[in-house]
Amino acid sequence: MDSSIFERARDHFNAGLQQLQGGQLQQAEASFAQALALLPDRPSTLTNLGAVRLQLGRPAEAAPLLEQAVRAEPDNFEAWGHLGLARARLGQDAAALATIEHALLLQPAHAGLRLEAAAACGRLGRPEAALAHVQQLLAQQPRHATAWTLRGSLLRDLGRPADAAAAFEQALACGGDAGLNRFLLAGVGGAGAAPQRAPDAYVRGLFDGYAGDFDQHLLQVLHYRAHEHVAALLRRTGRRFDAVLDLGCGTGLLAPLLVPLLAAAGGRIDGVDLSPPMIEHARARGLYAQLEAADLVAYLQATPQHWDAVAAADVFIYVGALDAVFAGVARVLAPGGWFAFSVEPADDAHAVVLQPSLRYAHGEPALRALAARHGFEVRAVETGAIREEQRRPIEGLYWLLQRR
Ligand SMILES: C[S@@+](CC[C@H](N)C(=O)[O-])C[C@H]1O[C@@H](n2cnc3c(N)ncnc32)[C@H](O)[C@@H]1O
Repeated sequence: MDSSIFERARDHFNAGLQQLQGGQLQQAEASFAQALALLPDRPSTLTNLGAVRLQLGRPAEAAPLLEQAVRAEPDNFEAWGHLGLARARLGQDAAALATIEHALLLQPAHAGLRLEAAAACGRLGRPEAALAHVQQLLAQQPRHATAWTLRGSLLRDLGRPADAAAAFEQALACGGDAGLNRFLLAGVGGAGAAPQRAPDAYVRGLFDGYAGDFDQHLLQVLHYRAHEHVAALLRRTGRRFDAVLDLGCGTGLLAPLLVPLLAAAGGRIDGVDLSPPMIEHARARGLYAQLEAADLVAYLQATPQHWDAVAAADVFIYVGALDAVFAGVARVLAPGGWFAFSVEPADDAHAVVLQPSLRYAHGEPALRALAARHGFEVRAVETGAIREEQRRPIEGLYWLLQRR
């Protein structure tokens, strides 16, 4: 073969490495692709092009390159590792786990892949196997905070709250995310007061990756109903609204139910949610005038806008301290405006409880006191299912308040 082909391929490959280091992913992809066009079987080029395409969020294009790389070079750790990640991103959890475990045979001390293996085991419903991977990582790196957090979550799911609490405390001692680990610790009854709301990282961890499947899973598998009940409360007011705010709007399930309640002259629906991917799904419905990715309390405190109805369906399960929420809603609601929301009920003796499910529950007397304090009349309080969990209904309390 012409030696200049080798030289040109090498130059493209080296340029790709430099661009990759500089975070120029598109350019790196182009350089590796040029190198591969000149020398189509090079495992190092296949691996790097696959890794870049994976980083660019295109696992389906990365996987065949990485498969070719491991066939050509069976002890190529990088290629096995990236192939495992690509398969995980494609939702092929069993194949991903086998591939990641193969990579770990080549480099047993790789912390990132150990955590990926544990996460894949978790998704496959094998918490004991997940725990074994975490244990192996902790044997090598006893101060790995993320591993302690994951260990705590697995032990909680295995019904061992005291061991879970000890693991979350270790995560804190090792410098793990304080907000997240304190929240998780409070959820298993550990020392310290429950934080005021679920940490952003926790909420986004739940919803960012779930946004695509949310509607189908929630409606068809979990028989979610909170949005229907909240809309029914607003319908019962007999009003037509000029402007409705959907707090924690998620993918916008509530919006089509709000449209018939808008004033004929052209009412509007706005929404706010912490999770940008959820907001993007809501936007795709084309029913919201304005959407913002933000914490709802910060939004309520800062917005210059006013609405004549505010709705929050299954959102206050992530907010323990509702005082600032009520103050914010009172601030943005026109006098006589309506506020409809759901909560999971707590025992009357408690204002708020962080349940083992990591969802907050709110007590009725405390909510009545909160409503009175912020100038609301309670117009209705009703019970009804929110959704199912393991085929059992989760009961909710549905509230309709009116601003005096
Ligand atoms: C169970 S989903 C319900 C979504 C929607 N209301 C519905 O009925 O389909 C809860 C939503 O609340 C959002 N959320 C939780 N805490 C929030 C906060 N502090 N600020 C804004 N949104 C929040 C989540 O991102 C998620 O989209």
